[in-house]
Amino acid sequence: MATKPPTPAVSETAAEESPDQTGAFESRIADGQTIEPKDWMPERYRRQLIRMMSQHAHSEVVGMLPEGNWITRAPTLRRKMGLLAKVQDEAGHGLYIYCGTETLGIDRAELIDQLLAGRAKYSSIFNYPTLSWADIGTIGWLVDGAAIVNQTILAKTSYGPYARAMVRICKEENFHKRQGYEMVATLAQGTPAQRTMVQDAINRWWWPSLMMFGPSDKDSPNSAELLKWGVKRKGNDELRQRFVNLTIPQAQAIGLTLPDPDLHYDEATNNWTFGPIDWDEFYRVIGGHGPCNHERLQARRHAHEAGRWVREAAEAYAAKQAARVHPEAA
Ligand SMILES: [Fe+2]
Ligand SMILES: [Fe+2]
Repeated sequence: MATKPPTPAVSETAAEESPDQTGAFESRIADGQTIEPKDWMPERYRRQLIRMMSQHAHSEVVGMLPEGNWITRAPTLRRKMGLLAKVQDEAGHGLYIYCGTETLGIDRAELIDQLLAGRAKYSSIFNYPTLSWADIGTIGWLVDGAAIVNQTILAKTSYGPYARAMVRICKEENFHKRQGYEMVATLAQGTPAQRTMVQDAINRWWWPSLMMFGPSDKDSPNSAELLKWGVKRKGNDELRQRFVNLTIPQAQAIGLTLPDPDLHYDEATNNWTFGPIDWDEFYRVIGGHGPCNHERLQARRHAHEAGRWVREAAEAYAAKQAARVHPEAA
């Protein structure tokens, strides 16, 4: 299989970066301009984007697994079609973002190798198990709902290819959230057993959904730099609060509760105040010790191996076509 040369190693603070270049770059950001692949950018900016975008792409791809487990067990044809479409969309999101990351000079195969070797991070939420059909609706409602809050802001990120990928992704995420909420609402109006099942799913997914926004800004090592360069437009805490404020009325509308005795509406700030998040659990899961980390990576490794012949066939076909067009290069 043909391989591209590895990305050249670049020093963390490239010696050739002059204060003038950095100043001009930062004033472009302050001016609201978009940075494009061929524009000059500080090496730190490029690295931060590769880190963030590749984690995002990995999350989309690993995120297919918890729901993919339920495709064969969907209760109706309509639900099966919706779930199939959603899981396929997530694969597409992964592809857009891997392609976007490649514009920063790193090869997708290299990023995937990092994931399969266990050296890359992806969203902690996908290391939790899907125990019942109600988990599928709950993931659509809460997990995709949280993703939309994050990604709507990322559509305004300073790096052009990432921002443009987000615009399209957000449209599909809205469908994911709506189908999830519809599923949850249907179960909430169902039999007592269905109600119990959906409430149990919400009880298990609520706190991990809040963790999706990442640690509090004061404990997040990258937040300040990402905000300065317009990669992030809002902090983790602000986005988490926005998600909570949006979601509680939706739960109330269908008569379900959220598992937090401290939840209350604060009239002074117009926010729903919530209880403390168990960050020990977050760091445990992100560190590889969640309930399904091992299973998820094994599934990805298996899928990668099973797809090897497809990649090889595609490359052989491309080489054949190229030889036909340019026989002298064969
Ligand atoms: Fe997605
Ligand atoms: Fe989604």
